[in-house]
Amino acid sequence: MPLKDCHIIELPKISDVRGNLTFIEGGTHIPFDVKRVYYLYDVPGGSDRGEHAHKNLHQFVICMSGSFDILLDDGSEQKRFHMNRSYYGLYICPMMWRYLDNFSSGSVCMVLASETYDEADYIRSRQDYLKAVGRS
Ligand code: TYD
Repeated sequence: MPLKDCHIIELPKISDVRGNLTFIEGGTHIPFDVKRVYYLYDVPGGSDRGEHAHKNLHQFVICMSGSFDILLDDGSEQKRFHMNRSYYGLYICPMMWRYLDNFSSGSVCMVLASETYDEADYIRSRQDYLKAVGRS
């Protein structure tokens, strides 16, 4: 799938004097059903995460607090997304190389995923990734 299939999705936001409420329904607001949720927190300044691709996994990444950047790369093009609102999320399709950096202190990155954890779904070598997308 090309980079243009990955995009920011704006989520419903219910605001009143008590604060904001956002919700996500699998298959409705995001283009897959959710089988797993995980989150990154207490990320030390200067840390990088990601640096891999997934063969079949669909993901939706939300910045729940603070900010960070997601760099997506399909082997020919790159796009950087600055994440700093909890009512926006980035949909990441399968076979996309991703790199997360610029974590602010106290940031929380929540990821909704279409499958349970499976190490066999990862491509962790950049060389293997470029081969898989026909770029080497
Ligand atoms: P990894 O996906 O490499 O982290 P990131 O993309 O944020 O840099 O995962 C780090 C470690 O955590 C790795 O040993 C696999 C493990 N892990 C699980 O056991 N379950 C999960 O759902 C995830 C996402 C990771």
